[in-house]
Amino acid sequence: MTKKNLSYGDYLKLDQLLGSQTLKSTESGNSVHDEMLFIIIHQAYELWFKQILHELDSVLDMFKGNYVQEENLGTVVTRFDRIIEIQKLLVNQIGILETMTPMDFLEFRDLLTPSSGFQSTQFRLIENKLGMQAEDRIQYGKQRYNKSLDEDDSKKVLDSEGDFSLFSMLEKWLERTPFLQMDEFNFWTSYQTAVEEMIQNDIKRIKENTQFDEVTQASSLKQYESIRRTYEALFDKNLYAQLQKDGHRRLSQKATLGALFIQLYRDEPILQLPHRLLTQLINIDQLFTSWRNRHRLLVFRMIGVKIGTGGSTGHAYLKKTAEKHSVFRDFANLSTYIIPRSSLPTLPQELKKELGFYFTYGK
Ligand code: HEM
Repeated sequence: MTKKNLSYGDYLKLDQLLGSQTLKSTESGNSVHDEMLFIIIHQAYELWFKQILHELDSVLDMFKGNYVQEENLGTVVTRFDRIIEIQKLLVNQIGILETMTPMDFLEFRDLLTPSSGFQSTQFRLIENKLGMQAEDRIQYGKQRYNKSLDEDDSKKVLDSEGDFSLFSMLEKWLERTPFLQMDEFNFWTSYQTAVEEMIQNDIKRIKENTQFDEVTQASSLKQYESIRRTYEALFDKNLYAQLQKDGHRRLSQKATLGALFIQLYRDEPILQLPHRLLTQLINIDQLFTSWRNRHRLLVFRMIGVKIGTGGSTGHAYLKKTAEKHSVFRDFANLSTYIIPRSSLPTLPQELKKELGFYFTYGK
């Protein structure tokens, strides 16, 4: 018997894929044209969520253990680039659904109750694998977020909570940042001196600014006191712990110092990839926020302030998640601690050599 050649349709299982759009409106005897778009767009999202999870899982694998192979870092950065490109597509895809009018949506909306995007298991897996903490979630009714899922999906989602998230793996990786303390050079003492100089300069400028009236000057100087305290917390375990307790910081003090060192000395060859990676985390986080915002605006124009098919307060709930559901906020917040390049403490030659690419000819 001759073997049948593989065809495009067989390889992609197109029969299955293209046969998976069952319109509820058609089943109920009154087909609504736009329901096809509604289904396809959600299915397209789920396919891209699957791809994001595929990338994320491989990255998590590389961060497991106490050591990250340097050559893996390049792969991680490439995979994050891919996730970021997909996210941009996901944000823009909302525009296609916005071509549906609220009235056309209302033609089939009731047939969807009580299902909702809130039940997207893959979306929850992405959130958890990135590092969303259950206790940070905006409450949805009186139920935990997994309660609207079936038993299998609920277990999957709960299993993905906890210690193996990207956030916690990266935190451990950053805590292991070498170079922070060398015998002959304590970087942080030099950094603190540079920070103090920067603050003193800023304070001097405020005092000399003749445009300020007394009240503005006093309030600007007060703000500088609080900025100084924020810097102090970087080096004071108790102050830092208080920031964490008050919910202002999540990343450990040690990891924050590691990340800050990378951000400050990003020009050193060995720190360029870690710096790109930290920037990507900010991109990934902010693109999710962009998606959440774009989605909530879509929801507002489609249903106004009506409650969602899943039973939430709809737009009000989604607005809160867009504000609060962020995982890598601390990484963007590192900018608070950045000082000008010209004020950076000069690194000792020995350390510079370690951070650079150099040949040891004939060795
Ligand atoms: C007409 C279009 C849409 C409307 C009116 C809508 C409405 C809503 C509402 C009201 C919620 C809150 C939960 C609820 O009460 O149901 C929600 C959540 C959600 N929707 Fe949509 N949605 C639309 C399109 C989409 C699309 C295209 C996706 C793509 C996957 C999506 C994914 C989600 C997700 C993941 C959540 C959970 C968000 C969270 O809890 O942080 N939605 N949606």
